[in-house]
Amino acid sequence: MMLTPVALAVQAQQTVGAAMIGVGNRGAYVMRSVMEQPGVRVVALCDIKPDRLDKAASTAARDNPKTYRQWRDLLADKNVQAVHISTPCDLHVEMAIAALKAGKHVYCEKPAGIDAASIGELVKVARSTNRVFQIGQQMRSSKKLATVAQRIRDGICGKVVMIKAQRHASDDLAHDGPSADWFFDRKRSGDVIVEMAVHNLDACNWLAGSRPEMAAGFGGTLIWANDPPGRTNMDGYCLSYEYANGVKMSFTQVFFHARGMPGNGQYFYVYGTNGSVDVDQAIYYPRAKDAKPEKLAENVRENLDLAHVTAFYEAITANKPVAADITIGATGALTAIMGREAIYRKKMMTWKELGVNL
Ligand SMILES: NC(=O)c1ccc[n+]([C@@H]2O[C@H](COP(=O)([O-])OP(=O)(O)OC[C@H]3O[C@@H](n4cnc5c(N)ncnc54)[C@H](O)[C@@H]3O)[C@@H](O)[C@H]2O)c1
Repeated sequence: MMLTPVALAVQAQQTVGAAMIGVGNRGAYVMRSVMEQPGVRVVALCDIKPDRLDKAASTAARDNPKTYRQWRDLLADKNVQAVHISTPCDLHVEMAIAALKAGKHVYCEKPAGIDAASIGELVKVARSTNRVFQIGQQMRSSKKLATVAQRIRDGICGKVVMIKAQRHASDDLAHDGPSADWFFDRKRSGDVIVEMAVHNLDACNWLAGSRPEMAAGFGGTLIWANDPPGRTNMDGYCLSYEYANGVKMSFTQVFFHARGMPGNGQYFYVYGTNGSVDVDQAIYYPRAKDAKPEKLAENVRENLDLAHVTAFYEAITANKPVAADITIGATGALTAIMGREAIYRKKMMTWKELGVNL
């Protein structure tokens, strides 16, 4: 395999210097997968909260990382080749653009951004550099999902006409939890559809083999109004999308699906002209009477977080394609933003109105 000049340079250096910006809940967790990568050392950490910085530094003590309170100082560190951005969502675009411009490879947590215009800026920069960019949509590293999506593309259920998906939970995110200082503020998180459901919506895009053209829906803060105080994000909504290839999609996210009631959790059902696919179970159910269901993939336990981090470093060192590139990240975030805006404005939103050319 021919290596790019970037990959050759990294190979010549033997080790990749990795850095974490934001070592809260997610960053500290992802760092463990980074430390498992052969030839990768955690050389720098940054967080504005000293307790988190200290804790992460002791977890990564093997690599003796330098610690920073200012993320721009970390980007100036010549020992850093790859940066993980795991800060609140409103900071992703600015940090990712600056990191790419500083010549770093970037693993940016989802969502790529929380407003359409700034995502458009990130797309331009990511495409104009020769640095690796991967979005933290780790479902894209699922072999099972990839197999099922491929079988659907190969026509197992005929022409796909509809997808039904959901992300339901029995409780709100902890009001005093580690991310509570920003999560409930939609100006910081992008709201729950962008912050959380981007994973599910991206998977729907993958299964549909397209991106939505229109969205309409309703929702709001239906149970926990002003709880916690100042809260602006939603706790429940329902949405419909129409895809560019004609697929219709129905999606709901709620935090109040009572414990014990069936139908909780997350799922994806794909309906085709010949039958339906339960994606999570990886089972195809033909519509024809008496036809037998078919297993499409094994239900093996997958460590998606580790696989996704591995894909990022293999893209840097072995010139492999990333598992989720900027187009996937931007499309996922824009899908969520289009749905969010349809709910906020109580009108049908079109992809064109987002104003981003992908
Ligand atoms: N891929 C996934 O499945 C997944 C899961 C959870 C969270 N996330 C994403 O990861 C990101 C972080 O979420 P979290 O749950 O870890 O939140 P968190 O609040 O636990 O951690 C965020 C950290 O960023 C730090 N921070 C804030 N501003 C900073 C700045 N200017 N410079 C440096 N550090 C700064 C905070 O102090 C905090 O420690 C979010 O974008 C979230 O959507 C992704």
